[in-house]
Amino acid sequence: MRVRHNVALTDANTLGFSALASRYVEVATLDEACQALALARRYCWPLTVLGGGSNVIMQHYLSGLVLRPVGQARWIEALDDKRALLHVEAGVPWHTLVVELAQAGWWGTENLALIPGCTGAAPIQNIGAYGVELADVLEAVHIVHLEDGRYEILTREACCFGYRDSIFKHALQDRVVIVRVVLRLEREPKPRLEYGGLSQRVPVKPIPIDIVDAICALRREKLPDPAVLGNVGSFFKNPVVAESLASRLYQSYPDMPIYPTVTGDAKLAAGWLIERCGFKGYREQHVGVHDRQALVLVHHGGGNARELLDLAERIKLAVYECFGVMLEPEPRVIGNEGH
Ligand code: FAD
Ligand code: EPU
Repeated sequence: MRVRHNVALTDANTLGFSALASRYVEVATLDEACQALALARRYCWPLTVLGGGSNVIMQHYLSGLVLRPVGQARWIEALDDKRALLHVEAGVPWHTLVVELAQAGWWGTENLALIPGCTGAAPIQNIGAYGVELADVLEAVHIVHLEDGRYEILTREACCFGYRDSIFKHALQDRVVIVRVVLRLEREPKPRLEYGGLSQRVPVKPIPIDIVDAICALRREKLPDPAVLGNVGSFFKNPVVAESLASRLYQSYPDMPIYPTVTGDAKLAAGWLIERCGFKGYREQHVGVHDRQALVLVHHGGGNARELLDLAERIKLAVYECFGVMLEPEPRVIGNEGH
């Protein structure tokens, strides 16, 4: 384990904003993570845990210590001939894992293909796509508390998962490092094809890798590749509003997508609201809104977090003035503007 100083993080965030970490350490094992945490406690360095940087808006300077879990191990624990638990260390790239599992014929994670980032970050916002959320396949999360180095295993129930939500955004925000995720896998075919025209894109009896391939193709049609155009996927969550407000909006906008939720509320499509406010394809000097998906804000190069956040505020205000609906950002802002 080596703590490095003044490390550039420009390639470590998918928006591609220029950023510098005062101190930076990669930890490959539990032992190294505990040593790094002890060091941070001793010198009172504030800690930022970083994965693939695909859901953060990085401001220029990160003081204290940036800790990046990079453990790559994964191993299977068979439950019976049809079910298994998969233990995965935090540093494993999520999409690589999904492809590996699908190629090996396991069902469970295939709809979550092509989501960037590391497995250790997946529980933070309960990653979701194409009708499936991490919570549907998660068994447990292994964590280390930053405060005292205590190791704990959280069950799925203890993670309090919701739509783009978990205990890691509330009681445990900035208080733990996730070191391992345990997933439930099945051999029994369980295709989930209800969402977004998926069923028309796969064979009648698909195997997991057919679904991975179809989802990758669908996603590539809409979402920009961060290697080409900086972005963090959806910039806002889809707003969940009272059914009464959704009905009123529907009277005025009969083509507005509205999805009922299990709680009796309604989820609206933030991308639709933003497009209706005229922002799709909008561009300022360095930042803008993607021309194929209005929910994705993009960085064209040479810009910074402030410019993107200012644009996001203008979009929020326009949507609120037009529809009376408040959008909430999905990614987190980390670091400070100045040195
Ligand atoms: P980071 O951005 O590095 O970190 C995100 C947050 O998690 C930060 O607060 C960080 O401190 C914390 N964190 C990271 N690792 C750990 C850890 N080991 N322990 C404790 N805290 C940690 N998300 C979806 O849900 N569905 C999608 O379909 C989707 N599509 C996307 C498409 C694109 C093109 C992009 C760029 C992003 C997309 N995302 C999507 C968002 C993002 O990929 C996920 O949220 C992903 O899980 C973030 O992983 P990361 O490793 O990059 O996390
Ligand atoms: N829409 C528009 N205009 C747009 C974009 C979308 O009218 O510019 C409409 C679509 O026509 C559709 C609806 O909005 O009727 C929903 O669009 P889409 O299916 O593209 O999904 P989304 O709601 O925009 C969500 C997730 C994505 C996830 C996809 C697929 C959120 C915030 N976003 O996007 O997650 O990949 O569904 O399941 O829930 C992410 O979180 O970063 C992310 C990319």
